[in-house]
Amino acid sequence: MTVSAELAEISQWWRTQWSATRSGPMPAARGPRPFRIAGSANDQTTRDGVDNPYWQFVRQLPSVDAGLDGVAADGFARGLPVGHHLLTMRYSWAIPSPGDIGWLADLLGHRGLVEIGAGSGYWAWQARQAGIDVLAYEPSDPADNGYSDGVEYLATLRGDHTAAGRHPDRAMLLCWPSQGDPWAALALAAYAGDLLVYIGEGPGGRCADDGFFELLGRHWTPAGASPHHVSWSRTRCTMTAYRRTT
Ligand SMILES: C[S@@+](CC[C@H](N)C(=O)[O-])C[C@H]1O[C@@H](n2cnc3c(N)ncnc32)[C@H](O)[C@@H]1O
Repeated sequence: MTVSAELAEISQWWRTQWSATRSGPMPAARGPRPFRIAGSANDQTTRDGVDNPYWQFVRQLPSVDAGLDGVAADGFARGLPVGHHLLTMRYSWAIPSPGDIGWLADLLGHRGLVEIGAGSGYWAWQARQAGIDVLAYEPSDPADNGYSDGVEYLATLRGDHTAAGRHPDRAMLLCWPSQGDPWAALALAAYAGDLLVYIGEGPGGRCADDGFFELLGRHWTPAGASPHHVSWSRTRCTMTAYRRTT
């Protein structure tokens, strides 16, 4: 099924929702919950020529106000034809909004980026479309990676956490490192650079292990977070920059 056909299914789902709950015109933007990001104050514009199908889906999904954290996409709504699991497996475990990618480009300036554990390469693909010089490493062949559907959006280099040690000149990106697995801590220990961008949940959450957050607390300090990041509902995902202190 094509992306436009799936988007049409989501539109149809909205029509069903609205007619099932009340009469009158369907709200185009923020209003009664849940609301669509598309057309609301939380919407983000994709630059001309940039392809970000993940965001095209997310902005059409039901979303909920996440209080101080802004907005969260609800991919679990009953009967939703395209939801959280499908999109995380197809694209990435975290949502790269256009604002996130702009924030990342501003943070990096002319500096390059190395992503470790890149999965489908979706974030790296978005970074490259923003003009960022990015290398993405992933130890699994796309067809064998149980964390994704097997589609690659940017050709990833075959390599594990040890690749982090080869790129001290680049900032390092980690997005949803595997839960309970030491590889993120090992990547952080191997990395000799001074700028980390971490996307995922915090200590005790569903990313990395305690060793990773211990290292982060000991040798790194937060240096800003993307104010544009949209988390999935039921998760506490943030996109945060850290600078090395020691
Ligand atoms: C939860 S997935 C996240 C993938 C991707 N960053 C995303 O957000 O879609 C974790 C990824 O870590 C990769 N991984 C597993 N062991 C690794 C290791 N030793 N070094 C680097 N990456 C590893 C997995 O193959 C998988 O692609």
